[in-house]
Amino acid sequence: MKEGTPSRTAAWVAAARGLGMALPAHARIAEDPFGLAFSSPALSALVGRTGSVPAWALTPGLGDFVLYMQVRTRVLDDAVRAFVAAGGRQLVLLGAGYDCRALRLEELRESTVFEVDHPDTQRHKLAVLARLGKDSPSRHLRWNFEADPLGTLPKALTALGHDPNAPTLTLWEGVTMYLTAEALDASVRMIADYSAPGSRLAMTYLHSRRLAEPTWSTRAIAAVVARAGEPWRSGFDPDELHDWMTVRGFGVARDESTADAAARLLPRAYARRVADSTRRVALVARESVAVAQRVP
Ligand SMILES: C[S@@+](CC[C@H](N)C(=O)[O-])C[C@H]1O[C@@H](n2cnc3c(N)ncnc32)[C@H](O)[C@@H]1O
Repeated sequence: MKEGTPSRTAAWVAAARGLGMALPAHARIAEDPFGLAFSSPALSALVGRTGSVPAWALTPGLGDFVLYMQVRTRVLDDAVRAFVAAGGRQLVLLGAGYDCRALRLEELRESTVFEVDHPDTQRHKLAVLARLGKDSPSRHLRWNFEADPLGTLPKALTALGHDPNAPTLTLWEGVTMYLTAEALDASVRMIADYSAPGSRLAMTYLHSRRLAEPTWSTRAIAAVVARAGEPWRSGFDPDELHDWMTVRGFGVARDESTADAAARLLPRAYARRVADSTRRVALVARESVAVAQRVP
């Protein structure tokens, strides 16, 4: 991240969630009425004035990204709903960015949501929500993953009211690709530290193949995010993820590409546009899972 500047990538993904409002109801599988407020002031003013999201949001390219974000958001929303239905009441959003699940999801009304992010991003998020007149029910932890000692994060969460003896669902959405292999290792061990039995971790990641054998479009996207100060650094091989997680106290319960999730969740004409199988979502559980369910 560029010091003194809120995350640009967080703004882009939030905007894409907001642009999903342009989709017809049968293809809209996740709704984020707050996302556009974190995009450019001109775009959010335009939508505020006209009351609708412009149709160009769905043109090839941008529209494909909007659909990908619909799928990623819905898969993680479903993970939240399943956790709450199973009795879980604590959520940690690591690298929360402009995630407004605490405001969006009715199911979280009885839960405590902890949002951990860089001070610059968090400051901007709270300013935007204040401008919208929204009081976030989340508890906020300002944390610089590059500077603050990771090992002390569980204690900082406890100080905010997190109960390390009760199950926690951690969402790690759109973050793993920006971390080094060492930071991934330290982060998952730290998550295991504050995760009681019954806890889960839902994370998005890039297939390592994408970084090892980049296509021209991967090179282009990687250049854009690097210029924003958030270069892609890491991926995982899905065949190795279960073993990697097991030695760190987690087992993979589900792991699928967003292309497969799209085929499951979206009407076919829209699902076809989420064709990239190197973007993945994994749901891992604190107790090790004997048989991992993975869609190759
Ligand atoms: C792509 S955004 C994802 C945001 C959110 N999870 C989502 O999917 O909408 C990456 C997030 O990582 C955070 N981040 C990047 N570097 C960080 C650092 N050194 N310390 C804390 N947070 C950082 C950014 O502030 C940003 O919110």
